[in-house]
Amino acid sequence: MAAIGDKKKTYDTTGLKVPVSLGVIMDGNGRWAKKRLLPRSAGHRAGAENLKELCRNCGRYGVKYLTVYAFSTENWARPEDEVHQLMELFVEFFERYDPELEQEGIRVRFTGDIAALPEKVRNTIAEGEERSKNRQKMQLIVAMNYGGRREIENAARRLAKKVKDGELEPEQITEQLLSENMYLPDVPDPELIIRPSGEMRLSNFLLWESAYSEFWVSQTLWPDFGYDDLTQAFRDYAGRDRRFGGLSSKEGKS
Ligand code: FPP
Repeated sequence: MAAIGDKKKTYDTTGLKVPVSLGVIMDGNGRWAKKRLLPRSAGHRAGAENLKELCRNCGRYGVKYLTVYAFSTENWARPEDEVHQLMELFVEFFERYDPELEQEGIRVRFTGDIAALPEKVRNTIAEGEERSKNRQKMQLIVAMNYGGRREIENAARRLAKKVKDGELEPEQITEQLLSENMYLPDVPDPELIIRPSGEMRLSNFLLWESAYSEFWVSQTLWPDFGYDDLTQAFRDYAGRDRRFGGLSSKEGKS
């Protein structure tokens, strides 16, 4: 049995096809706090704690790239104090918890319109990326000030500039070239995207990269999303027939 143990859980990967690249939309912090008559900030704090747990579980299951949606280009529309608290929480998280991420061999990277974030957050991002760059077990990719449409807009602008400068012919623009001009072209497209809290939408997350991602939704609110939910998501994913627009392997053979 290919079990990777810690004291409490058995990470049994026998016959379980685990995604190499996984996306998670961490939704439901506000509802989690409301149910407990707590301020929304308490929900975000519980959500941050749970991100550590997800990293541990994904690392032990053998996921190689975990992309989490932390702050979207649309989240600036929230009340100023919530935005401020979130920014402070990001800084605190990556400074305070880095030793734990290090212990798990987790490299931290960021994706999104990073240049438009406050200086303090940008510094944390630069330090976190530098400090963790040689860790090998798994990459945690944090989508911060991220919008899928903005990422595509950015790629289009980069290619348009090359055309303008005479370095590229419009006919040379292909899907492959667009992919190479997304924020992190070396990160594989997610095979699976998980959204806790019951909403059935992508909310501008990884629009380009999710063309053939499997989608899995649970009713659990993000701060409560634990090992059992993740295991269920992986079991269901393992049973999916990914056809990529073609026929299933059985149909192809008959
Ligand atoms: C959506 O839930 C969640 C967010 C906009 C923030 C995600 C942030 C965290 C999980 C905090 C930790 C992150 C890092 C990277 C340290 P919501 O507040 O919209 O929930 P609701 O829909 O129930 O109101």
